[in-house]
Amino acid sequence: MKKGKKLYEGKAKILYATNDKNLVIQYFKDDATAFNNQKKTTIEGKGVLNNRISEHILSNLSQIGIKNHLVKRLNMREQIIKLVEIIPIEFIVRNVATGSITKRLGIEDGTVLKEPLIEYCLKDDKLGDPLVAEEHIIAFDWASKKEIDKVKKIILRINDFMIGMFRGVGIKLIDFKLEFGRIKINSKNEIILADEISPDTCRLWDSVTDKKLDKDRFRKDLGDLIPAYTEVAKRLGILHEQSNVSAVNVTKLSSIRRKK
Ligand code: TMP
Repeated sequence: MKKGKKLYEGKAKILYATNDKNLVIQYFKDDATAFNNQKKTTIEGKGVLNNRISEHILSNLSQIGIKNHLVKRLNMREQIIKLVEIIPIEFIVRNVATGSITKRLGIEDGTVLKEPLIEYCLKDDKLGDPLVAEEHIIAFDWASKKEIDKVKKIILRINDFMIGMFRGVGIKLIDFKLEFGRIKINSKNEIILADEISPDTCRLWDSVTDKKLDKDRFRKDLGDLIPAYTEVAKRLGILHEQSNVSAVNVTKLSSIRRKK
């Protein structure tokens, strides 16, 4: 597989073309941003951990029949993925209220929701990824009603699976963000899961202590982000005690360099 030109650079990842027009290389950077890019830093080793954790979760989802863009991990920072046309919506799934919803609606932090709540944000950095209603998505043709209904069903299956997977390793899945893309498979239009699922895009709390094991460590200046992500990877069985060379190296590199 030949790595071609850069197609797109986002806040945490870069996409490169390959010699196969249907496949691209997704590169995980060490950059961390929060609050729509207002807060920025580089955390050495974060990209390596997110690459591994996202590979693990997406492979597991494939095994239960949830189609996604992952083809295979290439190396420490790169994966080969299927090229999709991204639906310009961030699908936020909440099991427990925390973060923006508590501020927006005055809900007490940590309120357990009766049922998973799905929210939609328009993917537009300039506008600050505003919250939109299903009606906006349909009115402005960001996705069709049929597509949204399909995505909602997939989201609930992903949520059920991930709640169980994390519960099994002593972690509560508080909320997370998903992205989906359109693709033609055997000349049939399909919608598949895209982007990444990692501690950058989920809120993960230790089941016993409620310790935050996700990007809130950066958002809230709690420190020790790399040890927290490493803990998630170890509990998921991705980093084994004996193969801790990578984890130790990553931890050693965890000095946080503020850009501003
Ligand atoms: P929020 O509480 O800030 O709205 O975030 C909800 C969840 O979605 C949380 O797990 C973080 C994730 N998220 C992203 O991955 N990317 C984003 O741009 C935003 C706003 C949230």
